[in-house]
Amino acid sequence: MQLLRPLFGLAALQHSAHATQFSFSTPTVSTSSIQWTDLTAPPDANATSQLIFDAVNAVLQHWPHTRYRNGHTIIPGTVPVGTLLYHGRQDRELPRTPEWTSVDPEHSFPFAGDSTTDANTTAEGCWQHTLVTTRPLKVLYFDGSSAANIKEGGTLDMQDLLIWGKVDPARWVDERERLDDLCAWGNDFGLDGFVRMEMDFEIMLCDFSQGVELISTDYLAALWSRHITPPLQRHTALSLDTTSSADNLSGPNDRIVADILRFETIHAGSWHNQYPGDTRFKLDLTGLVSFYDTTLAPSLIPARRGKERWDHRPAGISATDLTAVKARVGEVLTRGPDSDGSGIDWQASFHVIVDRYADRLETLAYLLNTTTPDTVSERARLIQTQLRIMLTPYILYTARPTPGRSSTASDSDTWALPVWKGCATKHTAHIHASPTLQSRMTVSERLLLTALDKTNREICRVVVKMWAAGVHAGLDPFIPLESDDGHATTLALQDSLRVVHDWRADADRLMSWLDWAVWVKCRPACGVEEMCYLPTWPFFWHEGRKDERWERPQPRCIRRFEPYSQL
Ligand SMILES: *[C@@H]1O[C@H](CO)[C@@H](O)[C@H](O)[C@H]1NC(C)=O
Ligand SMILES: *[C@@H]1O[C@H](CO)[C@@H](O)[C@H](O)[C@H]1NC(C)=O
Ligand SMILES: *[C@@H]1O[C@H](CO)[C@@H](O)[C@H](O)[C@H]1NC(C)=O
Ligand SMILES: *[C@@H]1O[C@H](CO)[C@@H](O)[C@H](O)[C@H]1NC(C)=O
Repeated sequence: MQLLRPLFGLAALQHSAHATQFSFSTPTVSTSSIQWTDLTAPPDANATSQLIFDAVNAVLQHWPHTRYRNGHTIIPGTVPVGTLLYHGRQDRELPRTPEWTSVDPEHSFPFAGDSTTDANTTAEGCWQHTLVTTRPLKVLYFDGSSAANIKEGGTLDMQDLLIWGKVDPARWVDERERLDDLCAWGNDFGLDGFVRMEMDFEIMLCDFSQGVELISTDYLAALWSRHITPPLQRHTALSLDTTSSADNLSGPNDRIVADILRFETIHAGSWHNQYPGDTRFKLDLTGLVSFYDTTLAPSLIPARRGKERWDHRPAGISATDLTAVKARVGEVLTRGPDSDGSGIDWQASFHVIVDRYADRLETLAYLLNTTTPDTVSERARLIQTQLRIMLTPYILYTARPTPGRSSTASDSDTWALPVWKGCATKHTAHIHASPTLQSRMTVSERLLLTALDKTNREICRVVVKMWAAGVHAGLDPFIPLESDDGHATTLALQDSLRVVHDWRADADRLMSWLDWAVWVKCRPACGVEEMCYLPTWPFFWHEGRKDERWERPQPRCIRRFEPYSQL
């Protein structure tokens, strides 16, 4: 959130009710054309299913969106009745124009200023407004670090495209106009505000007199004995640099106070790091719109080509595609009650897949990279057992190679194809089979179903391929192979080495394709006095510190109390 003050002028927000109905007439998702013939065929390089999968999986979570700040997903939602919102400032005025609110007071407090007097002994200081929602607020969520003002960082692309039709690098800190224009645009849809993320989650509230009630205006005791430089002047919030000469009008504790304010803000953000994220927002995934949707925004396919995920930008979208995206966003914000979707809990459905594989794949990667047990053939057997365990629900009794044809190459994988198909289709086959669900699904839900299916299909492809290779190598304890002369085969050391080598390559490729944030951890794990941290805007703005670690955030442990670590 950029600190916007002083604030004058009343923005009268009208909540217009839209009841327009839209018929979503895309063709039903068909599985009949899907091939289950080649375990070696990797996914299309232009595919984005795994990225859409990851966006759904990462909704409202701080960690993944601190890592990939360049958001691509817009989701409508509500903030339920009874949610507390905070707004800290240096005077007791309630904002009369669109302004920020935080959901955690730790994020609001640093903006409340000091509680001393200025040079003219005018009382100025540490005011905190606490508001509560009195009806469900209608909000729009932008994923990524969508409140971080990073020039050319992609964080603001979606907002700027929606309101200004283009991303103008010169307007990266134009927060006043951005918010005013977002609210003016959102007024047509009855939007009360916008959910964004930076050090923590925030709601940019369009009207402090609509849907919220002021509970209290408190003059808090500040930790601080002087003013915080307004972020808009420095392009950072919480820019408390005690080394700057203009800033040292103060006592010896300032460094500590600055550290406390900084740490506690990201500390509060870290409470929402992992699934289920910040549960105070209720997002409606049946209205999800993604810039990774290759049907909706095909112009971004060539724009992403050759670029790493860090560098994907919605900004490269064509005018035609942007018109389509805006129309889609308009549709989901004006849907009637009849088009609220299938009733499937997509968040839970996606998370089932992540639960089933995140930890198992991580263990697999560990086993592939360890030297315990110390003989490669013992390790190979251990890993093969893990691969089998992952696939147990899908390995039918009949899934075994024909005796005598076991040790030949990939054309003998045919016996394993039903395991792949079972693994890849069991979670959603009932959706494909149900005409009722099919007819109720929104366009967004079809996108979600495809993302779920394709991501799951690829996980299953690779795991089955690995398992089948182990079976062929005679490593599977439950499918002992017999050689042509009827004796059990003994595995040569050379074969184990080759199998493990291939497995490692397969597992590496799969895990980098999935690229799940749950695997991004501090290694070794942080101590009790520490917290795992990803470099977070705006703390990497200090001169001379813009290195790769901030561009492509890597986790590290920081201290929870004095002496604080540099962020
Ligand atoms: C103090 O008051 C003078 C005269 O009213 C004004 O010009 C000046 O800006 C004030 N200083 C501060 C720090 O508010
Ligand atoms: C700020 O601190 C520096 C170093 O301690 C000192 O030289 C300077 O005079 C101080 N400036 C003010 C405005 O107090
Ligand atoms: C990927 O996208 C590029 C650029 O749009 C296109 O030329 C290429 O044919 C696509 N590849 C596949 C496998 O669809
Ligand atoms: C593999 O193990 C080595 C040594 O323990 C470690 O440094 C490296 O980070 C590991 N690589 C992966 C991908 O886990």
